[in-house]
Amino acid sequence: MKTVLHVVGARPNFMKVAPVHRAIAERGSLRQRIVHTGQHYDASMSDVFFSELGLPAPDLHLGVGSGSHAEQTAKVMVELEKVCARENPDLISVVGDVNSTLAGALVAAKALIPLAHVEAGLRSYDRTMPEEINRMVTDRLADLLLTPSRDADENLRKEGIEESRIFFVGNAMIDSLLAFKSRAEKLPTLSQMGLRPRQYAVCTLHRPSNVDDAETFAALLDALGHIARSVPVVFPVHPRTRKTIAEGKLEASVSRYPGLRLIEPMGYLDFLSLTSQAALILTDSGGLQEEATVLDVPCLTLRENTERPITVTMGTNVVVGTDPERVKLEAQKVLSGHGKKGRVPERWDGQAGSRIAEIFERALSP
Ligand code: UD1
Repeated sequence: MKTVLHVVGARPNFMKVAPVHRAIAERGSLRQRIVHTGQHYDASMSDVFFSELGLPAPDLHLGVGSGSHAEQTAKVMVELEKVCARENPDLISVVGDVNSTLAGALVAAKALIPLAHVEAGLRSYDRTMPEEINRMVTDRLADLLLTPSRDADENLRKEGIEESRIFFVGNAMIDSLLAFKSRAEKLPTLSQMGLRPRQYAVCTLHRPSNVDDAETFAALLDALGHIARSVPVVFPVHPRTRKTIAEGKLEASVSRYPGLRLIEPMGYLDFLSLTSQAALILTDSGGLQEEATVLDVPCLTLRENTERPITVTMGTNVVVGTDPERVKLEAQKVLSGHGKKGRVPERWDGQAGSRIAEIFERALSP
């Protein structure tokens, strides 16, 4: 039996790999191995997703941890190269755009192992985002480019990628959302937090450009504090963001706004329960823009651009930038009932994992 080796490392990878892994397991024609690079290592950033998504524990753990971009990418490469020599996989599958994705792609390409990229073709055209570099290089090296939307296909064509390598499969992360939504909504998450459906906002911010500089982040906190006078704003805090709050001594500004509730990172199901019943989502995450579109919850993206333009052209997303005045204004619009309505993009239908499994099977058949 041929072997597919899935490389995962950071929180947003897990919900994309789970449906692919499940679909391959159901077909039963390929052997699978999961390698966790260890880019994310806190239980709340990693383990909880495996258990909640029904993803088997990783077969191998590289334990690389945090570091600079070069350190993290290089450490994954050194360890993964050894794993490949030992395991001799027939296909390496990487997902998304994190440093572990890039490292997996480079190792596969140099070891002449066929490479698949799940979530290929997304482009913000903003090279100040480390993820943009990861996406461009990974797509250049991949043999199978599995895209979530037709605009991604178009981006790849413009870069000269052969048509025969591009497969429009839909959005694997949305497979997970659709599989778990009704279970999540039955959880007592809201009542435990004293929240009522559609009467609160959810916020996540973790992009270096928004949270690494204490002054920039304090201005955004101020805007959130202002919004929190109208509705509670629940803000699960990423470890990178927590660091800035501690080092920038921002605890005092946070406590000035009683409606602004900074909490620990949440598991997949509790967070889905929270987002699916929110009145408004404010974020700089890529995945959450897509989830908001499928959940039909208005989303304000606190960035200057998005690699997921379909969430704007079809979905509920508005890219508002990071000017605190604009953020407050747009939030007010949504909260007064003028949030954007959207439609669910093509092939965000819960079947992306099956389409990918079929493509892997065909690519690996003799
Ligand atoms: C990474 C991805 C980003 C993704 C995000 C999702 C890259 C370049 N960035 O960013 O695309 O949106 O994950 O979460 O790959 N830390 C912990 N515990 C952990 C993990 C991290 O405390 O389990 C802290 C460490 O201080 C670390 C910092 O968070 O230095 C940043 O972690 P890192 O993985 O380097 O980048 P993220 O900001 O998480």
